[in-house]
Amino acid sequence: MSSDQMPMTAGPDTAVVTGAAGGLGYRIGLSLMRAGHRVVFTDISADALDALTWPDDVDSDMALTMTLDVTKKGDFERVLTDVLAQAGSVEILVNCAALTRTTPVFDISPEEFSQVMDINLRSVFVGCQVFGAHFRSAGYGRIVNMASLAAQNGGTATGAHYAASKGGIITLTKVFARELAGDGVTCNAIAPGPLDVPLLRDILPGDKLAAMPGMIPTGSLGSPDFIGQIVSLMASREAGAMTGATVDANGGLYVR
Ligand SMILES: NC(=O)c1ccc[n+]([C@@H]2O[C@H](COP(=O)([O-])OP(=O)(O)OC[C@H]3O[C@@H](n4cnc5c(N)ncnc54)[C@H](O)[C@@H]3O)[C@@H](O)[C@H]2O)c1
Repeated sequence: MSSDQMPMTAGPDTAVVTGAAGGLGYRIGLSLMRAGHRVVFTDISADALDALTWPDDVDSDMALTMTLDVTKKGDFERVLTDVLAQAGSVEILVNCAALTRTTPVFDISPEEFSQVMDINLRSVFVGCQVFGAHFRSAGYGRIVNMASLAAQNGGTATGAHYAASKGGIITLTKVFARELAGDGVTCNAIAPGPLDVPLLRDILPGDKLAAMPGMIPTGSLGSPDFIGQIVSLMASREAGAMTGATVDANGGLYVR
């Protein structure tokens, strides 16, 4: 049976989410759990992982937490090995970890540029390599990469390094999609606009935050739970025909 003919009941699949202690990664993990999957919430911050809580409508036995620094290839390899040992298989990788910086372009030091590229872009390359190789051997896998509207509009609220890293993610998504298409493995990206998550309150001063919904054609910030639902769709067994795509979810801020 080809992967896109497999029934929904083939699960539960196991998903690894990076940056899963963050505002969006956590909601994505919960959405995947609601879709019936076992989810490994990973993050660089052990304290933040320890502080995660599980709502009543998810089965907390289906959640695991593991530290993973996305700048370290060895961490991806360790997590892959540990998840296989504990869960028996892994079918889904969501690359969500990122560092958001808003430094004006002429003030960005080469060091800060490299740091953002390492955490946001090089990490996606390494994650897709490590998990993509495993998925290829297994003959099935789903990769979802978190890009951003900043990649498409050059970044307005965010920095040039952040925007460029997200543009690179869209390109890497196409590369891995093409490489893995014959092996039952898909690779897709999502490009959200401003989301209703804590990060936005951190990077925008109060008056800009208050004005933001009025600047969005649909009139409201994006929902992290809706982004989680898109991830769950891309990660489903039925989604075999969708690969190399970047899905926009930006409230009409960028229309192509
Ligand atoms: N928030 C938005 O409005 C928005 C819009 C478009 C795209 N995005 C993208 O969505 C993703 C999540 O955004 P968010 O709002 O949850 O951000 P966030 O800052 O709340 O979460 C990011 C998480 O990544 C973790 N992290 C940082 N460095 C790491 C490393 N080296 N290794 C592992 N984990 C690390 C942090 O600890 C944090 O938990 C990011 O890729 C971001 O670029 C967010």
